[in-house]
Amino acid sequence: MKILMVGDIVGSPGRRAFTRVIPEMKAAGKVDFVVVNAENSAGGRGCTTSIAEELLDVGADVITLGDHVWDQREMVKEIDMLERVIRPANLAQTCPGRGHVSVEVDGFGLITVIMMMGRAFMKPCECPFRAIDSLLKDQIPDSSLILCEIHAEATAEKVIYGRYVDGRVGAVVGTHTHVQTSDDRLLPLGTAYITDLGMTGPKDSAIGRDLASCTDMMITGMPTRFEVAKNDVSLEGVIIEFDDKTRKPLSIQRVREPID
Ligand SMILES: [Fe+2]
Ligand SMILES: [Fe+2]
Repeated sequence: MKILMVGDIVGSPGRRAFTRVIPEMKAAGKVDFVVVNAENSAGGRGCTTSIAEELLDVGADVITLGDHVWDQREMVKEIDMLERVIRPANLAQTCPGRGHVSVEVDGFGLITVIMMMGRAFMKPCECPFRAIDSLLKDQIPDSSLILCEIHAEATAEKVIYGRYVDGRVGAVVGTHTHVQTSDDRLLPLGTAYITDLGMTGPKDSAIGRDLASCTDMMITGMPTRFEVAKNDVSLEGVIIEFDDKTRKPLSIQRVREPID
């Protein structure tokens, strides 16, 4: 079982990369199951129902969001209807949507994707450490392969999170910072790990946004509109291979697929 976990899609260039790369990879047997973060897929701000459906149509199996989950107001009302779309599990318990989803895969069994948000330099949320303890204790079937995304700003928080759940889940991957890290590896107790998957979008940019307006904001400190950049578009993420019988991770490998 080869699972591709894809870094944050930014705007229409990111959606174009996903649409170009994923059907070919699936058809060629390079990946069997695809998880993608789409928190910046709608012009850089959130995701819409129609974009989620478009991504599922071209091969996403599960879509994750993040701190931008409510940027598109329609998502507040519609997320409950999107069974394969998850938001951070450690938001306030009154929030709509769900923080994990389980998918039955023919010939392999159950795969559960859990999403958590970090707390360092992020919006307030419940403790992601206690939240995953609670989920793993009694809400996820023992038979399931578990993939966990930790959406966080601080590398140290993501590293600590990976080690905290090492051996209890199949994979922990970081998102949110949009810059792929080179620490993809199997942790000591066997969990596949990377601090950040990277970004699916324009790399001639500041983490997907137009460089000139970001630079201007840095220098002047004035409110600035950040448009999505256009050029040097890639899909980034990792492919994790799992043993079909033991369901343990065998390897994790960074992926960068340029389309321009
Ligand atoms: Fe993001
Ligand atoms: Fe984010």
